[in-house]
Amino acid sequence: MRDFILAANWKLNKTPSEASQFFRDFNEKLEDRLSLPPTAGGESRDIRGFGEGPNGGRRRIVFFVPALLVATSEQVVKDTGLEIGGQNIWVETKGAFTGENSSDVLSAMGAAWALVGHSERRSIFGETDKHTAQKMKTALASGLSAMLCVGETLAEREAGDNLKVVFRQLEEGLSLITDVIAKDPSRVAIAYEPVWAIGTGKVATPEQASEVHQALRKRLAEFLGKSNAGSAASGTTSASGTAVAAEIALLYGGSVKPDNAKALGLKPDIDGFLVGGASLEPDSFLGLF
Ligand code: PGA
Repeated sequence: MRDFILAANWKLNKTPSEASQFFRDFNEKLEDRLSLPPTAGGESRDIRGFGEGPNGGRRRIVFFVPALLVATSEQVVKDTGLEIGGQNIWVETKGAFTGENSSDVLSAMGAAWALVGHSERRSIFGETDKHTAQKMKTALASGLSAMLCVGETLAEREAGDNLKVVFRQLEEGLSLITDVIAKDPSRVAIAYEPVWAIGTGKVATPEQASEVHQALRKRLAEFLGKSNAGSAASGTTSASGTAVAAEIALLYGGSVKPDNAKALGLKPDIDGFLVGGASLEPDSFLGLF
């Protein structure tokens, strides 16, 4: 019963007025697509009926917007069923951390998600596995859901180390929150984003992505089975680890576009997409649905 999640990562793009305009257009087009009757007076309304995902869970749409656009975005999408997230948080929620973002504040502003460990955070801003573990914990403690990004570089793939790298990022990133995952696995999602596919136009083939997703889910089951997540869920470690892992959405990200999304989305272990470039315009993002 895991969710299918379409997530936009706007990165450092859009002004407040561009964001508002985007959401107004997007909502209108989404409603058309869902064939909803027009609202009397055009007021915003709940369109949380995005339908059932392929694995029995909800179909959710999440926008990771720059922190400075969370308030504006939240105002426009309120009551529409669209969810807003921040692209980065700090490991603490307050204190002497000049320039950082607090997950408590994001949550108070109405955000529902935090993105953690994106490869740009890791490579440009020096985010380590230890940071991702702490950030996942802090995000959940603030009441947010958290999406952990994992993915290998081209050199790591060519050296045959891709699974080793993503397994390490996965286990370290989730190491401090196995108890929360056991209680509510839907508060956590994993995005597999091979670094060589991000922003390059070189998308992983459905087979390449699916191979890693299957390996990630198996590893997740083993990891959760060994941890208290598995035992808390039902007693016997390995079986319960499998059950908990089956509830966690594994998204693919890296050059997802309308023309390659369908083939990727048909793979049973791919539970949605994390999308950069193609999420910046309503038509290209809707083209992924
Ligand atoms: P892209 O970015 O879709 O532009 O490749 C994906 C991401 O960085 O999350």
